[in-house]
Amino acid sequence: MTFQIAKTEVVSKNELYANLQSQARSLFESERDFIANAANLASLLYHSLPDLNWAGFYLRKSDELVLGPFQGKPACVRIPIGQGVCGTAAEQRQTILVDNVHDFPGHIACDSASNSEVVVPLVKHERLLGVLDLDSPSLARFDDDDARGLNELVEIFIAMSDEI
Ligand code: SME
Repeated sequence: MTFQIAKTEVVSKNELYANLQSQARSLFESERDFIANAANLASLLYHSLPDLNWAGFYLRKSDELVLGPFQGKPACVRIPIGQGVCGTAAEQRQTILVDNVHDFPGHIACDSASNSEVVVPLVKHERLLGVLDLDSPSLARFDDDDARGLNELVEIFIAMSDEI
């Protein structure tokens, strides 16, 4: 099977995310493996969303997050729940948008190129599975439309993948 990532023409953010939803559905329709689908979603996002330097997952193992499938430079492997942007989003089970990571108390710098970040928790049946993390070299790269679009993609990914 070859999968062509659709070319990102100049479209609105809503169109872009609608497009990504249909690409994600077609990636997941014949596969329910959580890690495989996480890897493909990280790749889809990294290659489709403009102005990213990192896109990937941290997966919960007891009281910490452990690096999962991602695209970008090698990253820190373990993040305690409650620490950094990822650990805070995991603890609060809420999406966190950070316009300037250097102003976020306890931000964990993995790639010095990162200036803004969005983290979306993965929760299924009230269980925290991990987080999706996107980093950008631009300040304030992510807004509420990104948060909404990414949450919808995460819902599709979780619904179409077997739990780890
Ligand atoms: N900046 C994150 C750490 C993960 S990297 O950005 C890939 C944080 O503060 O949790």
